[in-house]
Amino acid sequence: MSQPTRLVAGNWKMNGAAGALREAHALAESLAKEPARARVALFPPAILIHRMAEQVKGSGVQVGAQDCHPESSGAYTGDLSAEMLHEAGARLVILGHSERRTGYRESDADVAAKVQAALRAGLEPVVCAGESLTQRDAGQALEVVAAQLQGSLPDSLDGLPFAIAYEPVWAIGTGRTPTVEQVEAVHGRIHDLLTARFSNGASVPVLYGGSVKPSNAAELLHARGVDGALVGGASLKAHDFLPIIRAA
Ligand code: 13P
Repeated sequence: MSQPTRLVAGNWKMNGAAGALREAHALAESLAKEPARARVALFPPAILIHRMAEQVKGSGVQVGAQDCHPESSGAYTGDLSAEMLHEAGARLVILGHSERRTGYRESDADVAAKVQAALRAGLEPVVCAGESLTQRDAGQALEVVAAQLQGSLPDSLDGLPFAIAYEPVWAIGTGRTPTVEQVEAVHGRIHDLLTARFSNGASVPVLYGGSVKPSNAAELLHARGVDGALVGGASLKAHDFLPIIRAA
């Protein structure tokens, strides 16, 4: 069974107006000169996907979306379907981010429906899971993450490319990170679950996310079972994101 291909992904969240495209351009230029060892993907606000995809063409940088609706079209004001995002140039989609699980009350079943939509449209899902601080303190991190993933990953993923991001909620945007031992324990559990459930489970990359920055990237990225990173704040500037990519 092949090893996971490492992936470093930048989630811009609701940041970055058109001017920020210059950061994607700088990143693409640098990676065109000196290619990264890992796959690299940027997830800008949906309105920038098309322009960013045009801009980074040929550089190896892929562009993705931060969410999609489960249906392909219809009366869903304000939403975007996986097909629309694909047409705009997205090739991946982040699903089940904790900011959507919390802010929009997305359940595991909602996330699983969105994963189905992504597969229908040819988008590679990056499915997120992570425990809250209360759950961590109660010693429930492993079971919470495993249960979220069991419910969020439909069987139809079998044999298809997808990725997982472990993002402890308490580490997102806080500057706090778990210890390497804590990261390795959760990643080990996720790899076991993937291998048990999917024929291609051993080659599914499991990314770590939550306060990854240039100064801690090497330590987190080289922890056992960590196959890349999902980076928020530090992916907004090429100057910060590049050293993280180079550390992978
Ligand atoms: P930060 O890197 O800003 O902590 O965000 C992590 C995250 O939520 C990426 O999806």
